[in-house]
Amino acid sequence: MSPDLHRKPAYLGFGLGLRPQHYAEILEGDPAVDWFEILSENYMVPGGRPLAMLERIRDRYPIVMHGVSLSIASTAPLDLDYLRELKSLAARVEPKWVSDHLCWTGVHGFNLHDLLPIPYTHQALDHVAQRIHKVQEILGRPLTIENVSSYVRFEQSEMTEWEFLTELTRRTGCWLLFDVNNVFVSAFNHGYDALDFIRGVPPGPVVQFHLAGHSDMGSYIIDTHDNPIRGEVFDLYRAAVKHFGPVSTMIERDDNIPPLHELVAELDQARGIAAEVLAKPQERGLCAAE
Ligand SMILES: [Fe+2]
Repeated sequence: MSPDLHRKPAYLGFGLGLRPQHYAEILEGDPAVDWFEILSENYMVPGGRPLAMLERIRDRYPIVMHGVSLSIASTAPLDLDYLRELKSLAARVEPKWVSDHLCWTGVHGFNLHDLLPIPYTHQALDHVAQRIHKVQEILGRPLTIENVSSYVRFEQSEMTEWEFLTELTRRTGCWLLFDVNNVFVSAFNHGYDALDFIRGVPPGPVVQFHLAGHSDMGSYIIDTHDNPIRGEVFDLYRAAVKHFGPVSTMIERDDNIPPLHELVAELDQARGIAAEVLAKPQERGLCAAE
């Protein structure tokens, strides 16, 4: 792939996940949202209302594509039909980037409909890197990879999740979607310091942040995306902006979806935090001292 294709995309500002409940409000109003992220699989069906709405929204807003079915870490062969459809959607939408998760979702023809974690071993790194190379070749563009939230860890792991992700970007030139809430959830569930995750990832490959709400079950946290972003996650976002600088930020809300203006208000909180941090360049990169 030519080095030009790996040029980091421009900063987009503050976005939201595009949800059908908000189509009309977006098209009839002028919400203070800089860009939208679509769930790729929801727009892979030819024709119909979703694609028609997307065509109109993409005329006014930058779009990024986010998928859940690539299963990049599975040992099952890559689904070439899925990749062809993904490529054809990308040709139609012209997204700023295309992302999916560092996970596996099934094997032997079974789809578990979950984003499952992997052991962070050298063997897994070779396997995933080789598959990312192949996907990037097929799509003709860099892939953006997101860290998942997890509830189990593998004792076979030979490195941390952040070391794995960093090495993956170095080997493949892929970009990173840094999900701040997922880091918070996994750090709590596994008992490590979320700031170690942030410090362990160099800013270069990070093109996007995800923010979301989770459910605190007391002794563990579930990544539910069904309520507002918690204060602790906004605190971690503050640390992430200090470390990574300006990164396109968006809120994922997948259940109990509120009216658009509530999400726009939540997005304004993120805007405020980022503006505050970025206005004090002397504090940038200081999350190690926190
Ligand atoms: Fe996410």
